[in-house]
Amino acid sequence: MQIVHTIPELREALAPYKRPAFVPTMGNLHDGHIALVKQAKPLGDVSVSSIFVNRLQFAPHEDFDSYPRTLDADAERLEAAGCNVLFAPLEKHLYPEPQTYKVHPATDLSDILEGHFRPGFFIGVSTVVLKLFSCVFAGMPTGVAAFGKKDYQQVMVVRRMVQQFALPIEILAGETQRAEDGLALSSRNGYLSAAERAEAVELSKAIRALGEAARASDTPDLPALEAQAMQALARRGWKPDYLTVRRRADLLAPQGPLAGEPLVVLGAAKLGSTRLIDNLEI
Ligand code: PAF
Repeated sequence: MQIVHTIPELREALAPYKRPAFVPTMGNLHDGHIALVKQAKPLGDVSVSSIFVNRLQFAPHEDFDSYPRTLDADAERLEAAGCNVLFAPLEKHLYPEPQTYKVHPATDLSDILEGHFRPGFFIGVSTVVLKLFSCVFAGMPTGVAAFGKKDYQQVMVVRRMVQQFALPIEILAGETQRAEDGLALSSRNGYLSAAERAEAVELSKAIRALGEAARASDTPDLPALEAQAMQALARRGWKPDYLTVRRRADLLAPQGPLAGEPLVVLGAAKLGSTRLIDNLEI
């Protein structure tokens, strides 16, 4: 595996290829990232991953400085997974001057849920993803980029960006990888104490229970069920931001009878100082 840090080095490494299979990451890789690399690789002619902790998507009070940076271990895992080129730019390589041109995604999708609780998050994500796409795919006839469904809204925001800018990139959404107890794998799980780690699976259990309650009737009182689910988590010591049933198509609240409507239950809650998210298609 070749490790490159600058955009010209990356472009030179990719010059012989026509269809990169790309997995952008912020590093501290877990089995979810590795599954994406393995799933995407056969769909392209070169497997590329990036590791870049993107300051633009962190609010000032969030964990940009403490976000785990584990480049050597990550590089070993990527190489073992069959990655051919790792792009690991420093900030000065990706943002040599302040990134004042930014992508503002459609607010109907990006100002709700995660975007409501993390204002500006999807501007930061869309901007870096478009820039990484430009680094990896410029001059390529086509390409594939893989994202994990744990960040459900992120996948939708990226898909819509690709569609609206007519980028010749196929977006692959990989299933959420889970620990044995059902906890969705996330780099932020590493922040949890042993007691918090044991409790953490309760978020996915609450999401599943809310999904079952929602599907138990064709016309459920969703706001009441959502409020009950949040109260139940709060009683266990969590600080829930949202637990909600949404339409898969646009992440808006379903209107009318649910029969036949593809839905997803999404949740975000803080356990101690760690904010976790998860979701389940129902
Ligand atoms: O999901 C992530 O790890 C990040 O949001 C991404 C897509 C790599 C952009 O920084």
